[in-house]
Amino acid sequence: MSQPDLHPVPDAFAAAARIRREDYERLYAESIRDPDAFWGRVAQRVEWMRAPTRIRNVNFDPADFRLRWYEDGELNATVSCLDRHLATRGDKTALLFEPDDPAQPAQRISYRELHARVCRLANALRNLGVRKGDVVTIYLPMIPEAAVAMLACARIGAIHSVVFGGFAPHSIAGRIADCASKLVITADEGRRGGKKVPLKANVDAALKLPGTQSVETVLVVRHTGGAVAMQMPRDRWYDAVIEGQPEQCDPERMNAEDPLFVLYTSGSTGKPKGVLHTTGGYLVFVSYTHEAVFDLREDDVYWCTADVGWVTGHSYIVYGPLANGATALLFEGVPNYPDVSRFWEVIDKHQVTLFYTAPTAIRALMREGDAPVKRTSRRSLRLLGSVGEPINPEAWRWYFDVVGDGRCPVVDTWWQTETGGILISPLPGAIAAKPGSATLPFFGVRPAIVDAEGNLLEGEAEGNLVLLDSWPGQMRTVYGDHERFIDTYFRAYPGCYFTGDGCRRDADGYYWITGRVDDVINVSGHRIGTAEVESALVLHPKVAEAAVVGFPHDLKGQGIYAYVTLVAGEADSEELRKELIAYVRNEIGPIATPDHLQWAPSLPKTRSGKIMRRILRKIAENAPDQLGDTSTLADPSVVESLVQQRRVM
Ligand code: PRX
Repeated sequence: MSQPDLHPVPDAFAAAARIRREDYERLYAESIRDPDAFWGRVAQRVEWMRAPTRIRNVNFDPADFRLRWYEDGELNATVSCLDRHLATRGDKTALLFEPDDPAQPAQRISYRELHARVCRLANALRNLGVRKGDVVTIYLPMIPEAAVAMLACARIGAIHSVVFGGFAPHSIAGRIADCASKLVITADEGRRGGKKVPLKANVDAALKLPGTQSVETVLVVRHTGGAVAMQMPRDRWYDAVIEGQPEQCDPERMNAEDPLFVLYTSGSTGKPKGVLHTTGGYLVFVSYTHEAVFDLREDDVYWCTADVGWVTGHSYIVYGPLANGATALLFEGVPNYPDVSRFWEVIDKHQVTLFYTAPTAIRALMREGDAPVKRTSRRSLRLLGSVGEPINPEAWRWYFDVVGDGRCPVVDTWWQTETGGILISPLPGAIAAKPGSATLPFFGVRPAIVDAEGNLLEGEAEGNLVLLDSWPGQMRTVYGDHERFIDTYFRAYPGCYFTGDGCRRDADGYYWITGRVDDVINVSGHRIGTAEVESALVLHPKVAEAAVVGFPHDLKGQGIYAYVTLVAGEADSEELRKELIAYVRNEIGPIATPDHLQWAPSLPKTRSGKIMRRILRKIAENAPDQLGDTSTLADPSVVESLVQQRRVM
């Protein structure tokens, strides 16, 4: 690695940082040598009703699998996020809401007010019959009620399942059915970039689909005021049910290992899995990583642009920041509305100090040139973060040089829905950055690189990324399917958690994530299973078979490339191509819209009938000279015809 690519910690930043280089080395060594002592001490940062005495009970071996942290501890996550701040930070802004339309006023919600709003909804949910262990589905826009709803569930021990507001009815229904959710909290409509999103109508459509009979009640937040059909007695206005509810609500006593939430994410096979996180370990981990990675100070204004429908929103808009008593900005809008200066204007307007976004947004804004950035000040910023996909060095440098004016460290944070919180990232006052590398592991995290046979590779190496030991924020199971959990993550490499990512480690021990090695594609930082898109396509009556792969995309990181075989007798046409693309969009949601759809008279398969995706990926990339060995195909001529067609597309 050439030295110019090393970005040392800026001196001014290092001088005042919470964790410096020597601290990192000492604490990391301690966290590995004596994890019980280390995580026992860190656990004291949250409020316990009963402090844990047993810190970790972990074994990754499927034959004697255990994954428990703080197992005799008791707490309620909302006490750490709300109650404990009332005495010292009651008037401090907890949530700063910036609406989609900049002409609408921003809202500041203090810790005192947030506590009251959460308690009122929690009481209302109890009155509606929601009990500890019940699942509540939340399908809301990026408005304060989204955080209030999550915390109200946690207050009474209900498990929340937030469904991203961009998902279509079919996806909502699948997520409701899988966890037999009793209640849905939604809004009349959402707003994004000046457009309205028909959330309530989507819920209505979802609840007509099979498997959703568990839902007894739908609470509807009146947000835009748009007209919606209310179906009595199922549908209730949110305002009406919280009306008159007391502003106090006893927090449910939860065991550390009681579930806090389920969040669905795409895997390499089948339907999305309900990733289950529990209460104690998760809260300790997200609050600690949030403080350390963002070098959090009392007066910071912290802005994470993720949606609460993704894990980043759960961990680093709601639970981490609020447990730390921080001020978190909640943004309803998009980066390019009303224009492409919007992010930077919001930063100036609210004097944001810590900014956390995704490479796809950085690349899109970079394409607009420097002027929309330069016409804003951004002096308030002191740190920039990136998450969701590998950040290409060019985008990293633009982020550092132009957005941060070369003053602000960039933290490239690698983690997953499954990991609950950040596992590999620079600590900004301690670790020199290299553009494109997530750098070094967080405390207690033991990454390793294995080859396809599972051999651990030492030193400089490239292979698959695994983790050799647990951390408190690790997911505990796949909701309702523990076997799938074990099979997906713990069988490929015995004794290890398999991340699904490829990775390189350089001579300095820095980690460079190279992307997914399974059939998951990462489109603009959103995980999509190729199998999900294929299932949607084959639902169409004219489609016989479909195969979907990712391909490199300048803005999105990866795009979606679909190969479709029509049923015999159906003719392809431009209209049908458009229809199928729209069909996927309507089935799953806009994030799953295929970028390309190629007709495939047949698909390349092995003699045992397995589709050879490696070959389809190369054709999609337009790299027919890299197809590799095609001799195991049942009919090698299939490939030639696909390559020919790709050329003319
Ligand atoms: O491939 C990695 C990529 O995103 C995947 C996890 O996606 P998800 O569960 O949706 O969580 C995204 C937000 C934490 C990972 O397996 N990924 C995430 N962050 C990075 C990344 N790839 C490279 N660098 C990152 N910083």
